[in-house]
Parts: sequence; C-alpha cells; structure tokens
Amino acid sequence: MKSSLDASAPLSLQISENNLQLQEARVAVVEACEQLKALMMGPRELLAVNWTANTSLRAILHYKLDKTFPVGEESSFEALAEASGLSYHDTRRLIRHGILNHYLFQEPSPGVITHSALTKALAEDDLLRNAVENAVEEFVPVSCKLVDAMEKWPGSEENNETAFSLANDGKSSMWDTFQTYPERANDFGRAMSHSSDYDSELLLSNFSWPGEGVVVDVGGSHGSVAVDIARRFPKIRCIVQDLPEVVRQGAARLPDDLKKRVQFMAHDFFTPQPVNADMYYFRWILHNWSDKYCIHILKNLVPALKPGASIIIHERVLPTDFGKIPILDARNIINMDVGMQMLLNARQRELDEWRELFVRADSRFSFRRAHQPPRGRLWIMEVVWQG
Ligand SMILES: C[S@@+](CC[C@H](N)C(=O)[O-])C[C@H]1O[C@@H](n2cnc3c(N)ncnc32)[C@H](O)[C@@H]1O
Repeated sequence: MKSSLDASAPLSLQISENNLQLQEARVAVVEACEQLKALMMGPRELLAVNWTANTSLRAILHYKLDKTFPVGEESSFEALAEASGLSYHDTRRLIRHGILNHYLFQEPSPGVITHSALTKALAEDDLLRNAVENAVEEFVPVSCKLVDAMEKWPGSEENNETAFSLANDGKSSMWDTFQTYPERANDFGRAMSHSSDYDSELLLSNFSWPGEGVVVDVGGSHGSVAVDIARRFPKIRCIVQDLPEVVRQGAARLPDDLKKRVQFMAHDFFTPQPVNADMYYFRWILHNWSDKYCIHILKNLVPALKPGASIIIHERVLPTDFGKIPILDARNIINMDVGMQMLLNARQRELDEWRELFVRADSRFSFRRAHQPPRGRLWIMEVVWQG
C-alpha cells in the first residue's frame, strides 16, 4: 500500500472500512507516531502554542485560493495574488504557512505552487470544503470564549449563556442565532451531514427492528433516517418531528413513493408528545441539551407512552476509562464533549449518566440494553416504558 499527499493521491488510505484488523493496525501506527513525536520533542517544545495555527487554512478558504488554478497545473504567488486580490506578500506567507502547517498546497521548487491532496480535496469536494470552512469560520472563534463564558455564567445549564453566545451577540443561543441567519444554519446543517456518524446503515443492521409499527423520529430533521428505515422495513410507518421550518423543508424533499409511510409533523419536544407510537428514536438530540432540559424532553414523552413502547437513543457514550479506547476515539469524544459545552452548555454522557437521566425523568422508564456496533462511534441504547 502506497501512501502520499500528492494531488494524485486518493482522499483516504485504501483500506476497507470492513477490514477491522487493518483499520486497527492503521490507528495503532498513528498513535505510535504521535507518541514518538511527543517524546522526541520533549515538554518545552510541546508546550509552545501555535497561536497562528488555523490562520492560513481560513484565509485559503476565504480567498478561495484552492480554486484559483486547476488540479494538475502549476501556479505562482503572483498569479494567486492576482486571482484573489491579496497582496503578493500576504499570498506568499499564507500559502507557505498552509504548506508548512497543514499540507495545503506544495512548493516543488521556489515560487512554483501545485495542489496537494488536501487542496485538491477542498477544490473538488464542496461538502468537505463546507465542513472545513464551517469549523474555521463558525466554531474556532467560539473556542476562544469558553473560559470567559464560564467566568460570566459559572455552571450554567442555559444554552444562551455560552461561549457561542459571547462570540456572537452576547445573549442568544446557537439555535436562535441560526434562526436569524438561515444561511449559517444551512452551512451548519450541511457540515453536520458530512460526518460519517450520520450514516444510518449501522443502525439498520445492528438493531432488532420490529417487523411493523409506528416509529417517531424526534428532532428528525429532514428525515434521512426515517427514509432509510421506511425503505428497509416496508411495514414500518415513520413520523418525523422537528421545528416547523425544518419539517417543511423535509416534506418538500420526500420521495413520492414514501409519502404514504413517512410523514412530517411540526412538534416542539418541549411540549407533550402527541403521537402514540411503538418507538421513539432520538439521534444527536439529547447531547445538545443540559440535564435539566433532557429531563424535560423525556417527561414530555410520558403522556403518549403505552406499556412496552421503546425509546432508542443513538448517541456517543463517554468512556469511564479513556485509557481503554484508541487515542483517536478518545480525543474525538472529549473534543465533542467540550464542543457541546462551548456551543450549548450541553454534554456527552457516560453510560451511567444516560441511565440516570431516565431515572430522574420517570421511574417507569426501564433502561434495557446498550451496545456499540463494531465500526460505529455511536451507541444504540434501548429504554422501555413500563407504564
Ligand atoms: C443535531 S440535530 C439532529 C438531527 C437528526 N436527529 C439527525 O440525527 O440527523 C438536532 C435537531 O433538533 C431539532 N430541534 C431543536 N430544537 C427542537 C425542538 N424544541 N423541538 C423539536 N426539534 C428541535 C433541530 O431542528 C435539529 O434538526
């Protein structure tokens, strides 16, 4: 297997997702290299903070430098400056910063600029580009405000007392801000959908689905999971609930052949659940809310629940022992946990903390089982209403 960051290289290593052994070996190599690098640098060098870190990435995206010349051709600082409107010197230093910090572009000989595999990916994959741009434009500025937010609102569970609020108008939640700026909401939604965590195949094939019945996808957005469930299980009927504008968009995109079995319904999950279903599915919902609001959401299910109805939570679970999982996974989940705090004063939870949420909401919820399918980052947790 040959690996390269030249523009001709594939976007990821050619190892099948299903080859678990080779995937594990790959992760072990990455971890060993990271540790070796840290040991070779030593504490003093490791503590040097690169406060310019994301600057060139943001600038390259903002000025669309990746799009100024075709992949496979050469360019120059002069040509890139002319195309972007930046000065020659700014172009030269930002491109070189990108090359040296992020493998963005290559400089095979002084002043000759070619694409690398990374700038090729940015130039050619709009969804990936949007996800990277969303991270540097929307979320990097938020990360600088976390300590300020904790100082101002210690221990807050409110989603309008966050680092995100401070990085924006100082008082609104992320959701309210996105209502005001629909184009930012759209970029955020596209960036989220780029994550492999949004692939529903692992859910469909790692859960014993009832042959028939009604499934409510609570906060189901545009209904991508409901569509996949309905296609796989022809006797299941799905109802996708979300905020009015979201369900309006989802309903407009629904394929004609599913209109009889997938229905969209505007419903605020902070009000009582109106549908008596067999199953209520929550993906990426409760990790957006602090405990007090999660309990509120769960209590609002109770009026609709019949004995035996199940609640499926499809989310990540924080490990209790971070040393027992690969460091890349560990970093990913702790980053998500801190990210949720910065954006919404929300959190990731350990398995016992998930159980505890249901106990606090109502003692008639019975936490049945939880498992993490192989290859998946999300867990499937099943809770049954005992009535
Ligand atoms: C992180 S997204 C997850 C979407 C979807 N479950 C998925 O996994 O693709 C959170 C969703 O919750 C919805 N939402 C936020 N507040 C809501 C509320 N009060 N009632 C219903 N849905 C809400 C948002 O519109 C958004 O679609």
